[in-house]
Parts: sequence; structure tokens; C-alpha cells
Amino acid sequence: MQVVETISEVRRIRRVGPGSWGLVPTMGFLHAGHLALVARARQENNHVGVSIFVNPTQFGPQEDLAAYPRDLARDLAQLEAAGADLVWVPAVEEVYPPHFQTYVSVEEAARPLEGAARPGHFRGVATVVAKLFNVFQPDRAYFGQKDAQQAVVIQRMAADLAFPLDVVVCPTVREPDGLALSSRNVYLTPEQRAAAPVLYRALCAARDAWQAGERAGGRLRRIMADVLAAEPLARVDYVSAADPLTLAELEAEAEPPRGVLLSMAVRIGRARLIDNILIADADP
Ligand code: PAF
Repeated sequence: MQVVETISEVRRIRRVGPGSWGLVPTMGFLHAGHLALVARARQENNHVGVSIFVNPTQFGPQEDLAAYPRDLARDLAQLEAAGADLVWVPAVEEVYPPHFQTYVSVEEAARPLEGAARPGHFRGVATVVAKLFNVFQPDRAYFGQKDAQQAVVIQRMAADLAFPLDVVVCPTVREPDGLALSSRNVYLTPEQRAAAPVLYRALCAARDAWQAGERAGGRLRRIMADVLAAEPLARVDYVSAADPLTLAELEAEAEPPRGVLLSMAVRIGRARLIDNILIADADP
């Protein structure tokens, strides 16, 4: 496994040898969810590249950029064991050189939900992911379903800008009690950690209602809000039952929905947790 810092080194290694490349973009502090992306990339490609970069442009001024958890030595040991070939660990100036002023902005898909709660977040994500795509030129790039709106935004960007690669979205990895794995789970105290599975319980309650025939967005959102309200440590940012492609909220008077993205952001202590369940139109 080669660990490099500069764009020119990535490009030099990328050119060596035939075969496909899979890219797993990360912000480090890896957990089993990231390693599942690396394992999938390993299965589907001849070479696997990983980036570790805590991207400042996707954090708002009041967010946790400085405190974001980091452990490069542990990340590299895990990636070596997982069979990564190349890890790019750039400095901020390598990604954003002096006088940097070019950003990628996805419009509608980036507006609601996380986009509304975190202004500028998806502009930062789309910009850094576009740069990663240019630097690595992968055949496939792997992202987690846990960041559902991020996956929609990146798929839109890749299609709109004709990046010649497949965006592969992999299932959310969960703890046995349902909590979705996230680097930010380290912020939870034991008491808060015990409360955190309420997100998945709320999503499952709405999923069960959908599967029993409920199609009214308002009622699905109410079901999730009621489950969350029973947990005193949970402070709800939003709950959503939205169209999986446009992310527009499902309303009672609309056409029969083609599926639903049930999602939420909930604060527990200093952690802001997000989670979702995607039900495609073919699902019951
Ligand atoms: O999902 C993440 O970890 C980040 O948003 C990403 C895609 C690596 C861009 O910084």
C-alpha cells in the first residue's frame, strides 16, 4: 500500500499498470462502514484508492471541523489490512491551493434537508468530490447510503458533468441495536449512546407503516416524530418522507409516490446524527 500526499504522486501511481480503479473518498477516522466500501471496491476493481481528507469547505463556521476525530495511524493500519493499494492524504493547500476560487454547486437536490440545515455543505462536498474524481480518475467511486442526500447530490453531479465513472452507493452498516455507524458517534456519552438507536426505531416505524400501505407523507413524518418525542435526549432537526430522486416532501394530494426516502437529523448531546431508510418503488 502506498501512502502519498501530492496530486502528482497519485497521478503517477494511477498511470502504472492496467486494470480498473475503485475510489473510496473518506474523511478518515474509519469504521466498519468505510471498510465495507473498501471491501466492495476491492471486489469490483483491480486497484483500490482511498482518500483521507477532512474537507474544510463542507463544514459551517459553527460546526466541528477543528474537533472532527482523527487517527491517521489507525486508519492506515485498517486500510492496509483491507487491501487498499493507494491512500491519498493531502494537506489542505494541496486540495485548495492559494487563490482557489472554483466551486461545484448542485442546485435542487442540495437545497432541502441537510442542505437547508447546513448552508454551503453540499457545495463543499461536490467541489472536493469533483476534485477527487479528477485526481484519481477512478472507474467506480463508492459512497455510503447513510449519507443519502450526499449520494443523490454526487450522482447528479457525476451525471451532469459527465464524469466517466460509476457512483456506487453501498448499504448503511449498523450496530446490532440499529445505530448507523458514523465517525461522529464518538461524541456520544454512554447515556446518549443508549438513547441513539431511537433514530432507527423511528425510521423502522415509518417503514412498517409504508409497508402496511401508508402513502401520506404527513402521516409518515408524524410516526417518526412521535417515536423520537418519546426519547428525552433527542432534539429533532428534521424528519422527512421525500421522493427518493427529487427529495421533495411527499404530500397527500400528490401522484402515488415512486418510493420514499425516510430520513432525519437528530441532536443527541453534541452529536448531530443523521440516518435514513430508502424504499424503492419496487419494494412492498
Ligand atoms: O462522506 C464523507 O466522508 C465526505 O462527505 C466525503 C464524501 C469524503 C467528501 O469529503
